[in-house]
Amino acid sequence: MEKKFKWGENVRFLERDDRIIIVNLGTKEFVKIKKEALKYLKKAMEIGVKNVLKEINNMEKNSFIGLIEYLNKRGYITTSPSENKTFKKIKYTEFPKIAYYEASEKCNLKCRFCYANPDIQHHCYIGNTFLTKKIITKLFELNVVYLIFSGGEPLLRKDLFEIIEYAKKKIKFVGMTTNGTLIGKEEAKKLKETGIDYIQISIESPEEKINDKLRGKGTFKKCLEAINHLKNANFRKEQLYITATITKINIDTLIKFSDFGKRLEVETGLSFFQPVGRAFNKNVFALLKKELIKFFFEKLKKQSKLYEPNPDCLNIPDQKVTSKIIPSLKNYCGMGFKTLGVKENGSVVPCHLFFSSNDFIIGNILDKDIVKKLILFLNSIPSIDEIHECKKCDIRYFCCNGCWANVYWHHKTFNGRNPYCEFFYDYFSSIIWNLGEEKETERIYLALSNLTNF
Ligand SMILES: C[S@@+](CC[C@H](N)C(=O)[O-])C[C@H]1O[C@@H](n2cnc3c(N)ncnc32)[C@H](O)[C@@H]1O
Ligand code: SF4
Ligand code: SF4
Repeated sequence: MEKKFKWGENVRFLERDDRIIIVNLGTKEFVKIKKEALKYLKKAMEIGVKNVLKEINNMEKNSFIGLIEYLNKRGYITTSPSENKTFKKIKYTEFPKIAYYEASEKCNLKCRFCYANPDIQHHCYIGNTFLTKKIITKLFELNVVYLIFSGGEPLLRKDLFEIIEYAKKKIKFVGMTTNGTLIGKEEAKKLKETGIDYIQISIESPEEKINDKLRGKGTFKKCLEAINHLKNANFRKEQLYITATITKINIDTLIKFSDFGKRLEVETGLSFFQPVGRAFNKNVFALLKKELIKFFFEKLKKQSKLYEPNPDCLNIPDQKVTSKIIPSLKNYCGMGFKTLGVKENGSVVPCHLFFSSNDFIIGNILDKDIVKKLILFLNSIPSIDEIHECKKCDIRYFCCNGCWANVYWHHKTFNGRNPYCEFFYDYFSSIIWNLGEEKETERIYLALSNLTNF
């Protein structure tokens, strides 16, 4: 007897006009088919493939068989009796591999857009070396692979070099985000001796005036000096990053940011301004949808590559099927399952964007049951299909509601739509729903996937 197939448990559907996208959340792939093809697939699940083939004209028979073979091979459908038929909410079971450690709550600067923005005068907690080493050891035991020292300003800690050196003995990749203003010749040398893998310096623009407007007078020059010291201390190009946060104030100058990085012989990175933590009410920095789109599309023009056909692409006459592996298109922020925030005293927060909040402490990293507490927290976050405003959205498995910190600070609950929704909707729509329909969009898709991981 013919074996009937059923959907894999991580499969979901999106619908627009006469097209269906079948998403496999397990493998992070998707396939675009005609609605009619879905109708035949569903029918085949009820009455068997052989019977359905009787209803399909000869021209399309081979296409349909090809589609079924393809879907089976890639795990969209299964004939295995052990796999569950019902679609399950994805459960989190693993501890994140990336941890941000708030090495110091304090900072020597007062950047206007900062989500942490801790005052140096303010009586902040300063961790001790012993406690920090215990925290690092625990992160190692929990199999953390990347540890990033952040803050506040990590270089305010007198024991910074000692704790980085300690971390390097335990954790595979260790990095640091710094404002760069406290790195002189001596500090650069000591940092090199710690074995740190990379250093990210925050600088907001290739233009001194714009950077200083956001970070404070004199900071641009100090950052450039720090980069020189680090290079002289033999940090290689790929170990040094400059990063800027895209705001209303600097956006016009950031199109030249990667050229700026090339001139300085360092890597570059960009991230969105997030109205979170102490930056929650600072709307003056937030970008409008049209500003974001203009920015990303201008960047595209510089970066776009020609589309190369994917060997996995099935071109079934009249039943166009397109498949792509989409991790870079997926807007999952990774909060709590890829990345985690650990405050100076070991308090665990969902990610570094919650450093300034005491309302969101999941537990202490040294707690015996911290993994259980984290998993409980993660499973309490609604899935995209449970968020009222997103559950019917036809790009929701790609957008995934973006940055959760952003959502939380905006709504004071995770059950709401991302404030950048409009931008995500246009951005993902133009890629996902046009992909495979015309050359130009495929070209854009490829270029976009090389951009940023926002
Ligand atoms: C909070 S700082 C801590 C490390 C260090 N003091 C520095 O400035 O790099 C970490 C990074 O977050 C960025 N940042 C600060 N406020 C932000 C916001 N509201 N949205 C997005 N990124 C922000 C900073 O520019 C910096 O690159
Ligand atoms: S962005 Fe960094 S340097 Fe600026 S105030 Fe925040 S913590 Fe300090
Ligand atoms: S935030 Fe907006 S674009 Fe993203 S899934 Fe929700 S409704 Fe769709």
